[in-house]
Amino acid sequence: MKLIDGKEIAQQIKNEIAAEVGVMIDNGEDGPHLAAVLVGDDPASHTYVKAKEKACKEVGIVSSLYQLPATVTENELFEVVDYLNNDDQVDGFIVQLPLPDHIDAKKIIDRINPAKDADGFHPMNFGRMALNLPAYIPATPYGILQLLERSKIETQGKHCVVLGRSHIVGSPISILLSRKTYPGNATVTVCHSRTKDLRQIAKSADILIVAMGQPEFVTEDMVKKDAVVIDVGIHRVPSDKTKSGFRLVGDVKFDEVSKNASYITPVPGGVGPMTIVSLLMNTLKAHKKEIYG
Ligand code: GUN
Repeated sequence: MKLIDGKEIAQQIKNEIAAEVGVMIDNGEDGPHLAAVLVGDDPASHTYVKAKEKACKEVGIVSSLYQLPATVTENELFEVVDYLNNDDQVDGFIVQLPLPDHIDAKKIIDRINPAKDADGFHPMNFGRMALNLPAYIPATPYGILQLLERSKIETQGKHCVVLGRSHIVGSPISILLSRKTYPGNATVTVCHSRTKDLRQIAKSADILIVAMGQPEFVTEDMVKKDAVVIDVGIHRVPSDKTKSGFRLVGDVKFDEVSKNASYITPVPGGVGPMTIVSLLMNTLKAHKKEIYG
């Protein structure tokens, strides 16, 4: 069994980005700039945004933060999005989700200029991704592609089973792995809450991508010998073995599944560190106008 070390791969990519940004700065050019819009005081959202700012700093990407109260109206948020759409200093931006209930996140995402959509959440980017046209790819699926590619895992002709059909992970990764490219050219099955015989389908996977949000759902009996297992889940569960009283687990029961897998991502330290790095890659692409010219 080989561990796919997301922390190490993320660091490699950060070094590559830092080197590229360093050359821009040395040449006296502007570097990339990522902005984030944060609404309200959801603690998890604040943590994500802080981590993004820290990662930007590490690689020399300028970051700016637009913090708004939870009482902000939809129209006021449109104004902020329009401002960032038109600010030539900003290459890309994200609106941190979730948004308060009185705001329709779909409408806000629709308002983002697709050329500045660093999260790859705009329908234009999703559609272009599906058509294998240049597009921003959402952070987690982009991170998974990087893990597969940099671990030199063969995907062509493999049966890839995706557990979960969310708009930000399951659905895009299933599309990406069926595209005529590498990583891709896989035969993909998507399983979800209404799937019959999910356990047997999972067991037929050469590559199993688990993004269903259920702690330690995937057990040894659901995984074929020598399968590649990518675990997108992260959960804090009670534990009497740690000082904090908690431990982090994924959607996969790591201790038993890792015995059978050829490659597996740990939690933490697998897919997690890759997501922010993907956002940095998208910001660099935005700055270089690689996607929309
Ligand atoms: N909330 C949790 N993850 C994400 C993300 O990747 N992007 C945005 N905008 N919000 C999130």
